[in-house]
Amino acid sequence: MRFVAVEAYAKLNWSLAVLGKMENGYHELDMLLQSVSLCDKIDIQRADEISLKVNGKETPFAQKNLCVKAANAFFEYTGMNKGCDISLTKRIPICAGMGGGSADAAGTLIALNVLYETRLKHEELVDIGMSLGADVPFMLKGGLMRAGGIGERLESKRLGDNIDILVLMPRKGASTPEIFSAFDAITPPKPIDNDALVAALEAGDKTRVAGLMANHLQPVTASLNPGIAIATEALMNCGAMGAMMTGSGSACFGIYPDADSAAKAQQVLVRSRDFKGVYKVHTVHSAVRLCRLLR
Ligand code: C5P
Repeated sequence: MRFVAVEAYAKLNWSLAVLGKMENGYHELDMLLQSVSLCDKIDIQRADEISLKVNGKETPFAQKNLCVKAANAFFEYTGMNKGCDISLTKRIPICAGMGGGSADAAGTLIALNVLYETRLKHEELVDIGMSLGADVPFMLKGGLMRAGGIGERLESKRLGDNIDILVLMPRKGASTPEIFSAFDAITPPKPIDNDALVAALEAGDKTRVAGLMANHLQPVTASLNPGIAIATEALMNCGAMGAMMTGSGSACFGIYPDADSAAKAQQVLVRSRDFKGVYKVHTVHSAVRLCRLLR
């Protein structure tokens, strides 16, 4: 293959329960993760070295970018003395809790496996991806999943009905390590009923989903970022059945009864100056979509 283009979808958390802190400093989690239609686009072609353009521009700190880290890890694992030109169209907001960096890493691994026809198994891509970020194993498969450990223990679930969602990105983002360390200083919050939430999602019962969704990190991020309360209140005032922060923040989302009501809320909220982004999305059943191949 000479050229491969993929779309890598963002994720939202229906829930995020922190169960405890592990010896390595990471936190043990029990989460329900969902792929949604907002995506980054990654175009990759064969080359001798690794290069990256983001939104058409050369990037100064390319080595820090997760597409480049994933490409390095891929060539190291396969032992190939090759590279690739990567062109990334970034749409998923950063510091949002939507797994944008992990989506880019997963998309790059899947695209390279097709580009170089290396036929690595899914489990091998997971092995390569795990060291790149806690959400990468989810981002290699996607849909609706329950995630344990630090996000690497995954169980697929069947979403009963597609859900229309509006995402608001506050002006200020959130740093995941900062939020987890601030969490350690607060009183442990009350448990989240993830079994009941799975049942509600499988049954397609949006009212119950709205009542059960919860995020242990939300009060922590909200205490550092007034944008969280502003976003969740704005969503509820615009007809959301329920609204919550995703991941460690700072993006917040509301679930809507249908696409029309989400579109109406979007029309109102795009006029607000409180948000960096307003995205109308819906649930999707995979994490990476192959959109173009050139032999
Ligand atoms: O691996 P990732 O880049 O997603 O995580 C960033 C940081 O967030 C970690 O270095 C760690 O400080 C914190 N974290 C954590 N427990 C998790 C996931 C992340 O403490 N389960």
